[in-house]
Amino acid sequence: MTSDRPLQVIAIDGPAGSGKSTIAKRLADALAMEYLDTGAMYRAVTYAVLLEGLDLTDRANDDTVGWIARRMKLGLSQDGTVTVDGVDVTNEIRGQRVTGSVSTVAAIPAVRAELVSRQREWAAERGGGVLEGRDIGTAVFPDALLKVYLTATPEVRALRRAGEASQQSVAEIAAEISRRDALDSEREHDPLRQAEGAIEVDTSDLSIDEVVALIGRQVELAR
Ligand code: DC
Repeated sequence: MTSDRPLQVIAIDGPAGSGKSTIAKRLADALAMEYLDTGAMYRAVTYAVLLEGLDLTDRANDDTVGWIARRMKLGLSQDGTVTVDGVDVTNEIRGQRVTGSVSTVAAIPAVRAELVSRQREWAAERGGGVLEGRDIGTAVFPDALLKVYLTATPEVRALRRAGEASQQSVAEIAAEISRRDALDSEREHDPLRQAEGAIEVDTSDLSIDEVVALIGRQVELAR
């Protein structure tokens, strides 16, 4: 689809457990837009790479990892189902193995280049959408209609993730989150940081409805 109308992109970034996925989904519903979980894309590439048994600590494998990202058929549906080459990997990509390696894969420039290009294509085909991740407002869509940076205290984030699934203890989850925060915000290429012009929303003491309403009002103002 081509149109002269600028893309209506809402960019939502923030660390693990800040509420991005829940908020982005609910906001997309409220605005009658589609939603893209870009973290799921990095997780899906990580899953495919682990399946090949590649050593991720060996930088000599980065080219192969980039090749896997470029050739993989990736399906993301609005109900949260994720497929890789037609196989449903929705549960597998949330497991500890993928979670433990995803920040390493996400730091590889060839992977980022491929996924950023797919994310831009996704939005262009729809005239926009709600995209959530780590670099949407800084790198993928710096001209987004609205850029939001979600935060929450480390304690709240660990408790949220513990409530979502997991056989891990809250302390283990807190350690994993803080390890990923460090890798995601200290990497060389498009690290996690608040984009210029983004509004910061601390979700620690707010309900989902309150956050969605707050961002919805900002969207109306930006339009
Ligand atoms: O949101 P999440 O926890 O599912 O994201 C998984 C990882 O993917 C995260 O630790 C960093 C990476 N990521 C990224 O580098 N850029 C994005 N836009 C989204 C996620």
